[in-house]
Amino acid sequence: MDNKKNEVFFETKKLTKKFGEVVAVNQVDMVIRTGEIRGLIGENGSGKSTISSMISAIHTVTDGEMLLYGTPYKPKDPGDARAHGITMIVQEMGTIDGLTIAENIFVGDEKRFAHHGIINRDEMNREAEKVLKNIGVTDVDVRKPASSYSLETRKLVEVAKSLYYDPILFIVDETTTALSQNGRKIIYRIIHELRDKGKAVLFISHDLEELINNCDVLTVLRDGKMVDTIEKADFDENRIKHSMVGREIKGDYYRSDFDGTHGEKVMLHAEHISNEVLHDVSITLHEGEILGLAGLSGCGMHQLGRALFGLDKVKEGRITAAGEAGSEVSISSVQDALNCRIGYISKDRDKEALVLPASIKENLLLPNLRKMGALISPRREKEYAQKQIDFLAIKCSSMNQAVGELSGGNKQKVSFGKWIGNNSKIIIMDSPTRGVDIGVKTTMYQLIARMKKEGYSILIISEEMPELIGMCDKILVMKDGKVTNAFNRDETLSEQQIIEYMI
Ligand SMILES: Nc1ncnc2c1ncn2[C@@H]1O[C@H](COP(=O)(O)OP(=O)(O)OP(=O)(O)O)[C@@H](O)[C@H]1O
Ligand SMILES: [Mg+2]
Repeated sequence: MDNKKNEVFFETKKLTKKFGEVVAVNQVDMVIRTGEIRGLIGENGSGKSTISSMISAIHTVTDGEMLLYGTPYKPKDPGDARAHGITMIVQEMGTIDGLTIAENIFVGDEKRFAHHGIINRDEMNREAEKVLKNIGVTDVDVRKPASSYSLETRKLVEVAKSLYYDPILFIVDETTTALSQNGRKIIYRIIHELRDKGKAVLFISHDLEELINNCDVLTVLRDGKMVDTIEKADFDENRIKHSMVGREIKGDYYRSDFDGTHGEKVMLHAEHISNEVLHDVSITLHEGEILGLAGLSGCGMHQLGRALFGLDKVKEGRITAAGEAGSEVSISSVQDALNCRIGYISKDRDKEALVLPASIKENLLLPNLRKMGALISPRREKEYAQKQIDFLAIKCSSMNQAVGELSGGNKQKVSFGKWIGNNSKIIIMDSPTRGVDIGVKTTMYQLIARMKKEGYSILIISEEMPELIGMCDKILVMKDGKVTNAFNRDETLSEQQIIEYMI
């Protein structure tokens, strides 16, 4: 049944969440109407995920209340929220590794496939296939465990699951940063369809262009408080940025120079490497070079990054890096990579990049432990951690706070901070600015440009074309596991020119 449009159906009144001393959400009054896509924006740690998590009953409410169709709404748990028509794609991983894709879709609701107490798995698998097909995903084996699929596929599984419950309020927390262009198109189509049917969407993103193109109205949060509501007629990049951070932010945050030169010395080299995904790939990264890898999600660029760090094996060809005293060292394991002072920022921060229960300080120091050994003093460790926290504006209660408690973007900053400022000379960055707000993005880009000048070698793997064009000396384009073209740094280079070789 299609809802009426433009009718207030959900409200928060002085909604508040405290985590100990931290007031994550502070007396927020928000009104959501049927038939709207509501953007929720704000800097990292401003409270977006916390509000969403209260609405979907992942977090309890500390104070204030929520109303659904004018009556108090007090969901007991996410299942109860779903029963009320509210579903959410969480910012971090929402699938369970050990369960199959089908089990993930129906977890908690398996009973509907039970006959005399026994679950009919064939029926469940068939239904899972149907649910995925409804959103246009057909290349997933629902019998396989979620762990065998990429971050992107697992996110799409969550989307399919959410829609299966036919939500009246669909919350999307920063999902698009984990998706390729194709995956994003699926989400855009879905949220517009929901809106047209009179349902509502709460859409969280740091991508202003995406927000402007898709939302009807924006709610701005700063330090847990609602500071602004911007109607579509007033959407303007500078206005939005100003409202988010409370000060002017200049739009040009990439490198301003077009000097694509770098040192002669080869720091990292792959010669004709092949494995299940890569086919005869050769690349060379020099001293003081920023090299970019562009492509669609399945093109193999993420796997190339993994192989270069020794995480994935290669079957043919070889990878070498510049070792101490000018020697050439083969890379076939992570230990080899670390010995050659290679760092790696993973796209999948929760699974690969961070130790969530450990503190910010411990996470920042991890790659340094080998170097610092037992000789480092606690005082120097603290100084080092504090320097990274200040520089990247990591929002936390102290350096001893568990990384798992940080907001998504602040986790990403820790993952980034781990590998810079230590003794890595070569840094492989897979989607380094994923989920990071515009203010800190600026800081990261400035840092990357400075590192180039200081002789670091950097490989940026990214699905954000402007980021690659804006930062790299050279961009390699990949398709079907092969390098299909290369572009040198050039003022006139356009996204379109690159995309031609990706598709
Ligand atoms: N479980 C927790 N324990 C303690 N503090 C928490 C917890 N979860 C969130 N916080 C704190 O609450 C504040 C708001 O975090 P939240 O995740 O809502 O931010 P966000 O706006 O979603 O940011 P991002 O854009 O980085 O995802 C942050 O200061 C965060 O550290
Ligand atoms: Mg968040």
